[in-house]
Amino acid sequence: MNPLFTTVKLAGKTLKNRIVMPPMTRSRSTQPGDIANELMAKYYAQRASAGLIVSEGTQISELGKGYAWTPGIYTRAQVAGWKKVTDAVHAKGGVMFAQLWHVGRVSHESNTGGKQPVSSSALQAEGVKVFIDDNNSPGFVQSSMPRALEIAEIKDVVEEYRHAALCAKEAGFDGIELHAANGYLINQFLDSKANNRTDEYGGSVENRLRFLQEVVAAVCTVFDSDSVGVRLAPLTTLNGAVDENPELTYVEAVRTLNSLKVGYVHIAEADWDDAPDMPLEFKQAIRDAFDGIVIYAGKYTADRAKIALEQGWADMIGFGRPFVANPDLPARLAKDIPLAQHDPDTLFGGGQRGYTDYPAAG
Ligand SMILES: Cc1cc2nc3c(=O)[nH]c(=O)nc-3n(C[C@H](O)[C@H](O)[C@H](O)COP(=O)(O)O)c2cc1C
Repeated sequence: MNPLFTTVKLAGKTLKNRIVMPPMTRSRSTQPGDIANELMAKYYAQRASAGLIVSEGTQISELGKGYAWTPGIYTRAQVAGWKKVTDAVHAKGGVMFAQLWHVGRVSHESNTGGKQPVSSSALQAEGVKVFIDDNNSPGFVQSSMPRALEIAEIKDVVEEYRHAALCAKEAGFDGIELHAANGYLINQFLDSKANNRTDEYGGSVENRLRFLQEVVAAVCTVFDSDSVGVRLAPLTTLNGAVDENPELTYVEAVRTLNSLKVGYVHIAEADWDDAPDMPLEFKQAIRDAFDGIVIYAGKYTADRAKIALEQGWADMIGFGRPFVANPDLPARLAKDIPLAQHDPDTLFGGGQRGYTDYPAAG
């Protein structure tokens, strides 16, 4: 028996299996206003047989937005849009967390209402492109040169996370996941090569962890800490965030999250083809540092997931790309039904094609 299909407790609920639909940006929010909609409700509800769904990255503020057409979670209209999604998922017996996202320097003035993007430091993510939609001529551009947040502004961003968590609660989400991975704002504080601050937010591991810690504390005033997860990407180099000593930094990060009693840590091992091998000792060190649920995602199959769960360094496994074209993925994995392949051209933007029109098997 594959332990993927056993229940597990999270956020006071019994999840029906250990399969996670991890966050996947699909860029189909209603414009203007970055509002979640009926089509998105249908898409997520189709995938409600996952033990846990984590929403696509959802910006917490105008400055937190990195790409055209991604949804937000800070206005009244956005809350109402997401309520349609959580209602549809709950009606199918699903459990859903919102991924709260601030992109920091991975943006462009076109996506931030003309404001200069911000980061831990005035360091540009060279070669990193973002998607913009200027005057209806969409395309990719080099991300902008950011400015470093001042200390008072860091406190304001922490407050924006708290506000977004309040919005997520009102929208009916069962919890939230902080996007601290893939080179976005929190990651720009964590990783030594993206953070050259000389104040209490830069330098030592303890200082680089301070922003994450403050954000976790803020959102835990809204949700119980076991309804809060944190996504980390220790080894991937996406969006130019690299740490000199990832094992030291990230085991310490997980220790800190353990002391804050968050419900889960979610390790992103792969992003597309960038899938550095994460040594077993590193995974074991994360396991030893954390008492809650540990989720891994990145190129997993049912067989690899089984090994991870049996060896004990993971409690749940995310399947990203497989969920795109297989809305009934848990049933297919359980019955060993061959998986459909997704169309890469319809991942971002557009309508129902390549989004809600992938059928369930039989
Ligand atoms: C289309 C697409 C969009 C993604 N968007 C996000 C996102 O918004 N937030 C995030 O943390 N990861 C995002 N990811 C990464 C996935 O959550 C996952 O970690 C990755 O796809 C590796 O898992 P897989 O090999 O099973 O697909 C995205 C991946 C894909 C394919």
